[in-house]
Amino acid sequence: MNTIQSYNYYMPTNVVSEVNSSKRTGEIVKDVVQKKVLIVTDKGIRDAGLLEGVIASLESVKLSYAIFDQVEPNPKAETIGIGVTYLKENDCDAVIGIGGGSSIDTAKAIAFIATSGGHVLDYEGVGMISTSPLPIIAIPTTAGTGSEVTASTVITNEKTLFKAAVISPYLFPKIAILDPVLAMKCPPSITAATGMDALTHAIESYVSKLAQPVSQALALQAIKLISRNLRNAYFVGTDLKSRSEMLEASMLAGFAFSQSRLGNVHAISQAFGGVFDIPHGIANATLLPFVLKYNLPACPEKMKDIAEAMGADVSRLSTSEAASKVLEMVIELNEAFDIPSNIKDLGVSLNQLPKLIEDSMRSGNILANPRLTNANDVKTIIEDAYYGKL
Ligand SMILES: [Fe+2]
Repeated sequence: MNTIQSYNYYMPTNVVSEVNSSKRTGEIVKDVVQKKVLIVTDKGIRDAGLLEGVIASLESVKLSYAIFDQVEPNPKAETIGIGVTYLKENDCDAVIGIGGGSSIDTAKAIAFIATSGGHVLDYEGVGMISTSPLPIIAIPTTAGTGSEVTASTVITNEKTLFKAAVISPYLFPKIAILDPVLAMKCPPSITAATGMDALTHAIESYVSKLAQPVSQALALQAIKLISRNLRNAYFVGTDLKSRSEMLEASMLAGFAFSQSRLGNVHAISQAFGGVFDIPHGIANATLLPFVLKYNLPACPEKMKDIAEAMGADVSRLSTSEAASKVLEMVIELNEAFDIPSNIKDLGVSLNQLPKLIEDSMRSGNILANPRLTNANDVKTIIEDAYYGKL
């Protein structure tokens, strides 16, 4: 049997990472925008003044723009339709998503429906898009989503409350602009939730059945950076270095999981996030310890690597003791950030359990999870997470 792994690594996004880079947006994007660019964001980002530098830079290179600020958490399919109509009314030929994952995912969906036509949910799954979208530019203001460098967008079906993933190489943004100054304004609760989402991306990617050498190297470095910087980003907030290294970590984790997919945390959190409209990062952070416990027996060596990357001294520990350290350290982080220790406190109800199980099993991430997972396993994980049973 051939034990040498075959793999492919594809990442076409041009990343510009520098302090105050958002104030150079016009200069950076002017070659990919012909006439007018649509800025896709939410009202909170706009009210916080985070668009000002971007807009001034567009004006400085004489690029026209329109602003669509109706992005909501767990963006809905209906919003994509409204955004596409607005884009066409304004005759825009490129899209800038600025904000958290919801803004960037909405921008991606608007950009591909503008050229592919039809309804966004018709494209659920892998490889369903066959036409180049309008150029997508992503400017994250939180360090967590990774969407600025990934090939996916997650959109909620408002009729079924299912969060559908659309995955296609066409969805990699053309340009990602990383400016840690924007992340300085991110409040502590969102810093924690998004930072734990990035940690979840990196961990799930590292242990994924689809992991490969490049994704694993990127995921481990992301885990190191998050472990060194997330507490500082949360408790100090204005420390530019920790904000910058968290943005870097989020991007590296995005590079990694765009190759390897994720695992049970994302499969299950997307199911209850859609039904109960719970922010993505906090849903993942709360669920992560329960999935780690489930996965421990399937990948102890990899979990030991993660423990080391998180800064644990594992030199005198057995492999299984070292692997268990990851669970302990994740619980400590959640406690430090006041993240609930069970999903009941997030507002999840078990009266929707059959739908949560069905929606979780529909996610392709279940198949990438290191430990084989069936519907009964998902039921057990959800019940344990509900009652806080570790
Ligand atoms: Fe995520």
